[in-house]
Amino acid sequence: MCGIFAYIGSNSNAPNLVLSGLKRLEYRGYDSWGIAGQANNKIFVQKRAGKISDAKLFLPACNTAVGHTRWATHGKVSNINAHPHFSTDKSFVVVHNGIVENYLPLKKSLINKGFKFVSETDTEVIVRLVESYRRNSNALLDAAKKAFLKLSGRNTIILLAKNGDVIAIRNGSPLVVGINKSSNEVFFSSDTLSFADKVELCAVVQNGEILSYQNGSKIVAFNILTGREASLEWLPLNFAGADVGLEGFPHYMIKEIKEIPFVVKQITKINKKDYLYLAKQIKKAQTVYTVGSGTTGIAAAQIAFYLRAFANINAISLVGADANEYLPLITQKDLVIVPSQSGETADVLEFLEKVKKSKVKIASLVNMPGSMITRLSDFKFMNDAGPEICVMSTKVFVSQISWGYLVAKTVSGKYSEGMKNLNTLSQVSGKYLSNKKISATIRSLAKVVSKKADIFLLGKADNFQIAKEAMVKIIEGSYIHAHAIPSGDLKHYAITLMEKGMLVIAIVPQDSLKSDVLNAVDEVRARGACTVGVSTQSYEGFDHFLPVPDCGEVNSIINIVPFQLLAYYTAVKLGNNVDRPRNIAKSVTVK
Ligand code: G6P
Repeated sequence: MCGIFAYIGSNSNAPNLVLSGLKRLEYRGYDSWGIAGQANNKIFVQKRAGKISDAKLFLPACNTAVGHTRWATHGKVSNINAHPHFSTDKSFVVVHNGIVENYLPLKKSLINKGFKFVSETDTEVIVRLVESYRRNSNALLDAAKKAFLKLSGRNTIILLAKNGDVIAIRNGSPLVVGINKSSNEVFFSSDTLSFADKVELCAVVQNGEILSYQNGSKIVAFNILTGREASLEWLPLNFAGADVGLEGFPHYMIKEIKEIPFVVKQITKINKKDYLYLAKQIKKAQTVYTVGSGTTGIAAAQIAFYLRAFANINAISLVGADANEYLPLITQKDLVIVPSQSGETADVLEFLEKVKKSKVKIASLVNMPGSMITRLSDFKFMNDAGPEICVMSTKVFVSQISWGYLVAKTVSGKYSEGMKNLNTLSQVSGKYLSNKKISATIRSLAKVVSKKADIFLLGKADNFQIAKEAMVKIIEGSYIHAHAIPSGDLKHYAITLMEKGMLVIAIVPQDSLKSDVLNAVDEVRARGACTVGVSTQSYEGFDHFLPVPDCGEVNSIINIVPFQLLAYYTAVKLGNNVDRPRNIAKSVTVK
């Protein structure tokens, strides 16, 4: 994944500006970091394995700097493998986000040409390739362009030369550029949030575009294949709540869970006309495909569920990484709906690019402004949930499924009822989240969970995806194995594992499905399992009871909240890194 950042301007504190940008990009990878600053026709590099929050810079005063926060793909986590990577003659450095899929043959041929490699990364192949093209020409820009064209995969690089020139090239992995006209400063980054408080205008760099800054001049953008000048579309950057401080909370995760009432409200603020227009497209479509990855894949499945349940729509959900399988079945009569926090998930993007070529219409709900998924979409919605910093998604998941619920209600002609229910949800969730008794109950349950090796979660119908998302949160936060099953399927296999000591958490609705789920609870309890009921009403078959408020039709939405809190308190209890679970990145821009 990785995050890349660059600063060019009059501030001689460029390395520190890059450092603060990288801290905001840390969600993209946090196993190592590095910064290069340029001054007096020299490049100074500081890089190391470990968290950027512990970084203490000792680079000299520089007006231009680039930086990188790494999520290792090629080569272990080490100081040497951290970016930036130097050219042999120390005349330029490269930071890179992506995967060079053909790095092995390229590396072999460069070694044959006499190039020496010092790291195990695919990025170093880019550096040596630029050097190899430079042997024939002095122009770094030309060499960078030629080298880049040799790479396969989704790659984005920023190159800093010792004379202060900066070259940025995008193909796949995200790249945005921001400017502050009054202070004459330029920022490059993997996302807009990282420089949101410093720029006035921003532009999304398109695939195949090269941006070149030569000392003292302005940024020139052109297409790497045609060489034609590209015009950047500069837009004002309004990112609600771009301030990403902890505001007194110990972790972003709990801060963001507490923002759930706000994010639900934000969904009700989206223009009614947009909902009505999308509803029209959904009704016209033969099949609606919803697609997403990870937690967002679960949100996509829940959105499809709401479309089927509330609006009788033929909706199928796909997981980003495997969505290609459906390509032969998708036609122009269909509609693709994509929720995505970042708007940059590579698995999803690759699928959308293919779908777009077949002229299939795309509707999206994205939280990060200026994303590729928004650009590819015909019907664009924004969560406006404010930045989500914790790698475990909480508030954005709730925002996504609340939006899906309102979309489904609009399709069924019940927009006002949907709005009323979401407004109630916003209020009720606020009270729930400030209820000290609930918080104490969840904390004491977290102690039980933290001692387990395996946990089963049961859900049915609109609560099955919720059980799955609860599973994801428990796994990510506590590293405890968890397994979600439709409660009705329990008897077909997992019941064999039910014995004394097993923990089973069931989401129990109060509608006609109640008895089905309670049967499963009784069955596991009869075999000695310890049961936890998440429900609006207690039941004698629950060993532990986690109450949730009664929100009627939108209960499945609020049902995820106690699980998010449970995952949070369990992670805290275990002393885990709550906001940065091991090996996981928030935005996965590699395949
Ligand atoms: C990563 C994150 C998940 C997220 C998924 C999709 O795997 O860890 O929390 O749901 O990517 O991200 P997106 O930005 O498309 O929502």
